[in-house]
Amino acid sequence: MLTVLTGDCRNLMPKRGPFDMILADPPCGDTSLAWDRRVDGWLTIAHDALRPTGSLWVFGSLRSFMATADQFAIAGFRYAQEIVWEKQNGSSFHADRFKRVHELAVQFYRADARWRVVYNDVQTTPDAAPRTVLRKRRPPHTGHIEAGHYVSHDGGPRLMRSVVHLRNCHGRAIHPTEKPTALLEILIRTSCPADGFVGDWFAGSGAAGEACRLAGRRYLGCEIDADMADRARTRIAAVLPFRDAGAAPARQSSPITGDIP
Ligand SMILES: C[S@@+](CC[C@H](N)C(=O)[O-])C[C@H]1O[C@@H](n2cnc3c(N)ncnc32)[C@H](O)[C@@H]1O
Repeated sequence: MLTVLTGDCRNLMPKRGPFDMILADPPCGDTSLAWDRRVDGWLTIAHDALRPTGSLWVFGSLRSFMATADQFAIAGFRYAQEIVWEKQNGSSFHADRFKRVHELAVQFYRADARWRVVYNDVQTTPDAAPRTVLRKRRPPHTGHIEAGHYVSHDGGPRLMRSVVHLRNCHGRAIHPTEKPTALLEILIRTSCPADGFVGDWFAGSGAAGEACRLAGRRYLGCEIDADMADRARTRIAAVLPFRDAGAAPARQSSPITGDIP
């Protein structure tokens, strides 16, 4: 299933769960854009629609997370970790502040679940340089590791770092705050099992739908702006999954249900 629903995620998404992963890029209320108004109540609804083995990734600014921090705990979420998305350019709202070239994405999981049951396959990059790494004794909370050394090999995998540098969609975006597909694909491969089900509660341009199509995950997005939802459906329908590459033209979504057959 790869669908974008048109409407309010608080009404439409709970009936379509449970989700293996929920992605949320909600309006932060940081700008004067007409759609940028904080949405109340969605966290509790999302909690109940998330599998206990699943996790929630939320995009936002530190300002928005600080303003809503208690609501995550009240909704039954526990903080897991965050990444910083570093962009090639950014916005300077004020001459007396740093130019803002990053955004945060924070991962939460259900407080009634153990972290070790939560699906979390942290991605690797194949760029480890050959070097000898000296291991010191670690403090007790990281577990006992013998002192010694190991040699990493050229081109070997290493855990992806928590700061991810990727170009934003400047100049080709459908949505003013569109996230790069490559960034979403990293989060989806990390937090949703193969063939699992991703719920994208504030879908915007449908970038996460494209990422799911490429990563082989099922996807349901929800966007309140009917015109944007339509553009998202068209965008997702135009992406060929790898298994069909070159074999058949992309199929069009139904204009009524948004379903892509
Ligand atoms: C920050 S944007 C998401 C951008 C998206 N991640 C992308 O990559 O294109 C937030 C979107 O949420 C939508 N929205 C706001 N309230 C909503 C609601 N209650 N239900 C569903 N969508 C909503 C807005 O119209 C807006 O397009």
